[in-house]
Amino acid sequence: MSIRSEIIGFGHYLPSKVLTNDDLSNMVETSDEWIRTRTGILSRHIAQDETTSVIAENAALMAIKNAGISVQDVDLLILATVTTDNTTPSTAAKVARNLNMRAGAPAFDISAACSGFVYALTMADNMIRLGQIKTAVVIGAETLSKIVDWTDRNTCVLFGDGGGAVVLRAKEGKGDNTDTGVLSTCIFADGSMYDNLKTTGGVSTTQNAGVVFMNGKEVFKYAVGSLSQAAETAMKNAGISKDEINWLIPHQANIRIIESVREKLDLPENKVIISLDHHGNTSAASIPLALSENIANGVLKKGDLVVLTAMGAGFTWGGAVVRL
Ligand code: ACO
Repeated sequence: MSIRSEIIGFGHYLPSKVLTNDDLSNMVETSDEWIRTRTGILSRHIAQDETTSVIAENAALMAIKNAGISVQDVDLLILATVTTDNTTPSTAAKVARNLNMRAGAPAFDISAACSGFVYALTMADNMIRLGQIKTAVVIGAETLSKIVDWTDRNTCVLFGDGGGAVVLRAKEGKGDNTDTGVLSTCIFADGSMYDNLKTTGGVSTTQNAGVVFMNGKEVFKYAVGSLSQAAETAMKNAGISKDEINWLIPHQANIRIIESVREKLDLPENKVIISLDHHGNTSAASIPLALSENIANGVLKKGDLVVLTAMGAGFTWGGAVVRL
């Protein structure tokens, strides 16, 4: 017997304002055709009044309700984000306050860019398996529109805002790959790639957040290799083969990256979840958003074996295998 983290609740939240490629073509020199064919993105949601904490709180509330638990049952809250409300305290602390979470239960942010949700899931799963906590809320939420240079067509067409959340709960499992819940996780980083994807500022350098800068070609190449490697490592650690999986949920950055990863992993098209067409790249929110939305619309079902794989600034990357 061993303790597993079962995913008992899913939630997501998207700001109501939708920005289409045609809208963008009125802001910078671009076209729906260019964005669609180079990235696969058709539209994205953009926060108006909502801050990251509001998006995170709404996603978490939906997940808690969906899990059928009370906020008072939550022992840990982790929020993966690079777009915090304040530099300090953590945005997780603000979400904990707004949710009226139990005083004493830990809450913190994780900064691992687009891999943030997989990093956060790894931390929460490890704490559950160690017996330190029973119930965790893990959120990925972003307002990337606030750190995008809206005059730079190389980057502004790629990103969107939103959030997703899951509730994890400790459950006795057999300890083999037939268990439900998180079956494996893996996380990685390569700091030598730091300058290839970053904001142009920060607290200790420029005293402002800066805007997104990206070496698109380097990111593209590294993303294909690292997303494939993380998925393969997670499957190996879980003791499952690619033929057994029902779904791959890759970080939603670019359809051509996803297509290359799918080919490398030799998976059929109908096993890959795509949501970037209507979300854009929402960084740490991308995977939990795709997960929750596809649970809600009935595509993902109880018992499905799902592989998550993410890559982002740092560079960071990581994967997980989950049986729903
Ligand atoms: N509209 C029209 N033209 C554009 C736009 C735009 N929005 N953006 C760039 N161009 C132009 C460029 O200026 C360039 O023009 P030039 O040839 O006259 O210099 C031309 O299009 C081709 O540019 P490339 O950079 O070669 O285009 P590429 O096919 O490589 O696509 C892209 C660019 C989409 C950014 C690609 O490199 C990519 O997907 N990289 C991965 C980056 C990514 O997804 N980042 C997300 C964050 S990281 C993550 O989440 C993992």
